[in-house]
Amino acid sequence: MNSESLVSISDFTKDEILSLLESASRFEANPNRNLLEGKVVATLFFEPSTRTRLSFETAVNRLGGRVIGFSDANTTSSSKGETLHDTIMMVSNYADLIIMRHYLEGAARYASEFSPVPIINAGDGANQHPSQTMLDLYSIYKTQGTLENLTITMVGDLKYGRTVHSLLMAMYYFKPRFNFIACDELKMPGEYKEFCKKHGIEYHEYTDFSDDVINQTDILYMTRVQRERFTDIMEYERVKNLYTLKNSMLLGSKENLRVLHPLPRVNEISYDVDSNPKAYYFQQARNGLYARQAIICKVLGIDNK
Ligand code: CP
Repeated sequence: MNSESLVSISDFTKDEILSLLESASRFEANPNRNLLEGKVVATLFFEPSTRTRLSFETAVNRLGGRVIGFSDANTTSSSKGETLHDTIMMVSNYADLIIMRHYLEGAARYASEFSPVPIINAGDGANQHPSQTMLDLYSIYKTQGTLENLTITMVGDLKYGRTVHSLLMAMYYFKPRFNFIACDELKMPGEYKEFCKKHGIEYHEYTDFSDDVINQTDILYMTRVQRERFTDIMEYERVKNLYTLKNSMLLGSKENLRVLHPLPRVNEISYDVDSNPKAYYFQQARNGLYARQAIICKVLGIDNK
């Protein structure tokens, strides 16, 4: 594996995560710096994206680098049958860093095994989304003043939601307590519950989205039901609207509670929540710019102090 690649959040130690948060904070104070002058970064998106691609590309532009890439693989030679292997080898001829999103779990790790340039995983199927996790951690730290000993309630599609899988693994360093709220079809997969058990992380599972659970929560992490991962569209139709956060449900919540969502939202958060000061999802997406500037610099070995 390319030693500088970021494939899984578990590629980072606790110290590296804390150092990245400090770096993100410096970029938030001063996002326009010429640290990537002369560098070319490729963004290869085999799956749709708004935030991840645009914030990565903004990060490169604000750091003085150049961006090449695609947002629709149908316009590339992969539609003629070119393999992922050959695509990565070609693009590594042109770019210093490849940021890729792919619909197959493990695609980024596979690419990192032979790529001559570092790979950043911008989401691989239902598996991992480590750069989202860094912006989630930065958002949690900014709103709570700490990452330690927090109660995090994850709601919705915990089976296919790669953001919750990555966040769960990263929080292991910080003694969290988790509540998992999902219907039986979309429960947190066994491997992540095993991870919690192995590392002594407390978790509780619920099917009801109750005030009792909301009122003990510090971070309420809502997720979209991932229609694109379902093979049976009828099953998606049955579960897609089971959990919707309404403003009235936050009435008894803790003062420090913040509502996070990786976005895009469909029906998981009512629009009446948007004006509640506890709604933090749009600021969370903005934090993605700074977190991704920090990640790019770390992967390329560039100091931003
Ligand atoms: N959160 C996230 O990954 O959003 P996009 O799919 O729009 O990139």
